[in-house]
Amino acid sequence: MGASVPDHFERMWSDLAPVGRSAHSGGYFRQPFAAAERELDAWFVEQVSARGLRLETDAFGNRIAWWDAGEGPGVMTGSHLDSVLDGGGYDGPLGVVSALAAVDRLHERGFRPARPIGVSVFVEEEGSRFGLACLGSRLATGATTWAKAQVLKDRDDVRLDEAMSSSGMTGGDPWLDRSRVACFVELHVEQGRDLVDRGAAVGVASRIWPHGRYRFDISGEPNHAGTTRMEDRHDPMLTYAMTALAANKQARLAGQRATFGRVDTAPNSTNSVPSAVTAWMDARCESDEALASLVGAIVRQARDRAERDGTRLTVTPESVSGAVDFDPDLISRIAADHEDGDWPVLPTQAGHDAGILSAQGIPSAMLFVRNPTGVSHSPAEHAEMPDCLAGVDALAETLARLAS
Ligand code: GLV
Ligand code: MN
Ligand code: MN
Repeated sequence: MGASVPDHFERMWSDLAPVGRSAHSGGYFRQPFAAAERELDAWFVEQVSARGLRLETDAFGNRIAWWDAGEGPGVMTGSHLDSVLDGGGYDGPLGVVSALAAVDRLHERGFRPARPIGVSVFVEEEGSRFGLACLGSRLATGATTWAKAQVLKDRDDVRLDEAMSSSGMTGGDPWLDRSRVACFVELHVEQGRDLVDRGAAVGVASRIWPHGRYRFDISGEPNHAGTTRMEDRHDPMLTYAMTALAANKQARLAGQRATFGRVDTAPNSTNSVPSAVTAWMDARCESDEALASLVGAIVRQARDRAERDGTRLTVTPESVSGAVDFDPDLISRIAADHEDGDWPVLPTQAGHDAGILSAQGIPSAMLFVRNPTGVSHSPAEHAEMPDCLAGVDALAETLARLAS
């Protein structure tokens, strides 16, 4: 592959830049099993074949490209290629492109791994289409079952199994054989400003906050917006509005996070009191207990308000992930003893496939690359090219340590 590693990285990055990008916002729409994400998947297969790696694909479309070397269980790295709706270009693809570039770096140095090195891509990490975060890694590791997952539906009522079968996949049993994976290291753009504050291009994750998504279904009584007296209404929009304010207030009081970022209303008519509102809350806390207590406080206030409004409320947890503490030995093997000192170790409030693999017993860790604004899940997400290249070097160094 002739060119230098920075050239490889920049070439790969510019290959990906236009795929799934909105001309309007500049953000990305790379939902799983839809055209843009499938184009990225095909691009990954081409990159793998250009490097002579051996590709394994499971029944959900998760992929691992193996550099078969040495013996024993492998060191796996990688991330995801899907995005949130109108997301940034770095969340996910940076980890995949950096993994391929790190393999190139190791080849360039003539490194001979003592164990296999795998580059993975897990599907639907964001849960932006089917609602369950890290769906691919959950299915691959058996953290959820195909029976439960196949009936998940997207916003257009398309079931997961239907969406997958049009891409030629069938679903089935868990696939990732733990005995073949010694550890997993996911490189990711930082989704906060810790590394900016510390003046470091690269850091290592310590833990992931527990987080969950909860669907609030509120039904009321549809009626005329003009002729229905205010005191005669049973308006689910009011129950929702008060719940969104309560979530913000309770999260601030507790020093935690709660967000309503998605809402549907029926019939969505300007001159009608709505019949129903469905809204999704994302909540994240520093401990499992704090998460249960925050969600409990918000739901209690929502129920009180529903009673006053004469509406009906049901709350359904759709995707809940417990706290994850990454493997301490792995963290210190990665972060310690560098020429420029130890790499900073920091927690994150964002979810990742590395968290699922860790919870399923695979020693896991993460590298973060500085994000100058800290903005993420937005078209404004960014990392500077020199920091991305520092991330590639850090990942290559990490793989060399773990596969020696
Ligand atoms: C995934 O990025 C999440 O934290 O929601
Ligand atoms: Mn991500
Ligand atoms: Mn994300």
